[in-house]
Amino acid sequence: MEETVLLVGGGGREHAIARSLSQSDATLYACAGNKNPGIARLATGFKTLDTTNPTAVRSYAREVDATLAVIGPEAPLAAGIADALDEAGIYAFGPQENEARIETDKAFQRRFMKANDIPGCPDFETFEDAESACEFIDTYDGDLAIKPAGLTGGKGVKVMGDQVSAAEAKEYIRDSAYDRIVLEERLVGEEFTVQAFVANGQLRVTPAIQDHKRAFEGDEGPNTGGMGSYSDSRLSLPFMTEAEYLEAVDILQATVDALDGYKGVLYGQFMLTADGLKVIEYNARFGDPEAMNTLPILQTDFLDVLMAAREGESLPKLTFAQQATVCKYAVPAGYPTEPEAGARVGIDEESAGDAQLFYASVDEREDGIYTTTSRSFAVVGLGETITEAEQIAQNALDSAAGDGLRMRSDIGKPELVQRRIDHMNELRGE
Ligand code: AMP
Ligand code: GLY
Repeated sequence: MEETVLLVGGGGREHAIARSLSQSDATLYACAGNKNPGIARLATGFKTLDTTNPTAVRSYAREVDATLAVIGPEAPLAAGIADALDEAGIYAFGPQENEARIETDKAFQRRFMKANDIPGCPDFETFEDAESACEFIDTYDGDLAIKPAGLTGGKGVKVMGDQVSAAEAKEYIRDSAYDRIVLEERLVGEEFTVQAFVANGQLRVTPAIQDHKRAFEGDEGPNTGGMGSYSDSRLSLPFMTEAEYLEAVDILQATVDALDGYKGVLYGQFMLTADGLKVIEYNARFGDPEAMNTLPILQTDFLDVLMAAREGESLPKLTFAQQATVCKYAVPAGYPTEPEAGARVGIDEESAGDAQLFYASVDEREDGIYTTTSRSFAVVGLGETITEAEQIAQNALDSAAGDGLRMRSDIGKPELVQRRIDHMNELRGE
């Protein structure tokens, strides 16, 4: 029987998922809040709908006779879209609402790690009122990370000693309406991501990736959803060892063992510190941009993974092309604090040259493609080395650069990669 896959979500990550599935023997349908022109071209049908509305997603899934679903973003997971599809007999590759709490509730996430003795959990406390959190800041000896417990699109965390002082941290807690706050020890080191396909108690891991959250060159400015990311032509990254990558895999394995019935992608965000590996957070889905580093080099058929997951079988072993990848986002001017929408996007799959183009939050109108207030599109270069991949990505961005768009040209350049290596050497006392 031919499979019909419904993809939920319309960002760069979902465009990468769509392209990967378009190489499989499946009929693809997609739904999202925005009409992503890249996904719409790959799909047999595309519907704009509220992807956090279980009834709307389920009726579209039924209408197109979906046999499988892939859920890209966190908001639909938090809204129980996987539960609704599973109940309708349409296997959703994505955790149900309760399992997605590993991402959607940071207080739960830390308690879960502690209760299950999962290695790499930083010291933390959870608070339900602003004043006791502020008192803790006053009495704690050292810097803390301030984390709203719920979803904030990657923009809610403030780190003392880095972005805010103790006084600013308290002001932030008092001024924001977050009902639950996690305070945890500030970790210092280099960050990296490892993602795994998970189903039937089993996991299949993918190469490590480093994302760049800060808005501006040289890691300055506010946090964003992620401005770009790179991976090497092997499993680990230049500032870490293979053993450290394997340690991250062990932590993910311990996490999957402690989770009950988790299915979908489990994303681990790690901090490599002078005291070893720590978990910054988990996500219950692919990262965006990280999916765009991972899926273009995945040689295993994505549909085979989905079908094995649904059938309760052992997941296929994954193989990856041994290539480095560099992904760079173009974002609207003023992003993330005062983004200006409405710039015309002057790039398409052909003019991207050797780079792969992934559309994100853009709006397709009759006379062209326009930016919205979120990240607009990403380009991905693949090469023998990170430097080669970077040049391919940057060339594509240079040709697409126009008014109203901004990007970080430093991501993946030798100077920035070397800074990461030097930083780790310094922390290790080498
Ligand atoms: P999150 O939303 O949990 O991904 O956090 C966003 C960013 O905040 C991370 O990518 C880190 O750069 C930073 N961060 C989160 N937790 C900590 C921590 N305990 N120590 C230092 N930085 C942190
Ligand atoms: N790149 C980080 C995230 O997807 O949350």
